Amino acid sequence: MGYDARFRVWRGDSDGGALEDYVIPVNEGEVVLDIIHRLQATQAPDLAVRWNCKAGKCGSCSAEINGRPRLMCMTRMSTFAEDEVVTVTPMRAFPIVRDLVTDVSFNYEKAREIPSFSPPPDLAPGEYRMQQIDVERSQEFRKCIECFLCQNTCHVVRDHEDNKTAFSGPRFFIRVAELEMHPLDTGDRRDAAQDEYGLGLCNITKCCTEVCPEGITITDNAIIPMKERVADQRYDPLVWLGNKLFRRGRS
Ligand code: SF4
Ligand code: F3S
Ligand code: FES
Repeated sequence: MGYDARFRVWRGDSDGGALEDYVIPVNEGEVVLDIIHRLQATQAPDLAVRWNCKAGKCGSCSAEINGRPRLMCMTRMSTFAEDEVVTVTPMRAFPIVRDLVTDVSFNYEKAREIPSFSPPPDLAPGEYRMQQIDVERSQEFRKCIECFLCQNTCHVVRDHEDNKTAFSGPRFFIRVAELEMHPLDTGDRRDAAQDEYGLGLCNITKCCTEVCPEGITITDNAIIPMKERVADQRYDPLVWLGNKLFRRGRS
């Protein structure tokens, strides 16, 4: 059964804005993105929103719904009571472009800082061999759809713009962990993870894990193992001695 929902949507641009109220029909089975599209089609033709797949796979429609970072296309209207006001605001950690669209280029800059996969030089493509267990371990991290909800949620940058230069954020900690755990990768990103990507600023609050729409166990499976690897390298006396003797970066 359809009903009229009350929506409150942030409208504005980098110079400022405000929440605007709308009453809008909702049909059974719809998601928040359907309602935003109906608003565009009927009452607010200039409402800016970014989306592509409407299937939870492109990572474009990230926003904050009643204050919680979520994908608009994966948030069912049945989540809310019919008399509840549904507030939709843009991601808070990134600069506003307009309305619900933010400038997420911070994330692309951080992605570029991480050295790519470096296989052994004597192996040709097609000669790579890995254990299934290693394939499965990194498979979880490769489910990332780059929605940047985890980046938006992490308190290290959410309320502290000045931390952005020193902190890559949870999405990129899983990228580093994926490469570190790859048995054929010859790089060593542990020092960079700590000193350049800001792994030490993470105090394991797990908020990133809670909002990930792909259910990636960011904190337990990527961040904590990376912290352990950094600690092993820096503070384990045997590893330290081995590194001195053999001038190797890896434990
Ligand atoms: Fe989105 Fe999860 Fe990837 Fe973060 S790790 S960008 S929350 S899919
Ligand atoms: Fe931030 Fe996630 Fe760490 S929310 S503090 S990166 S556990
Ligand atoms: Fe692609 Fe929502 S529109 S994830």
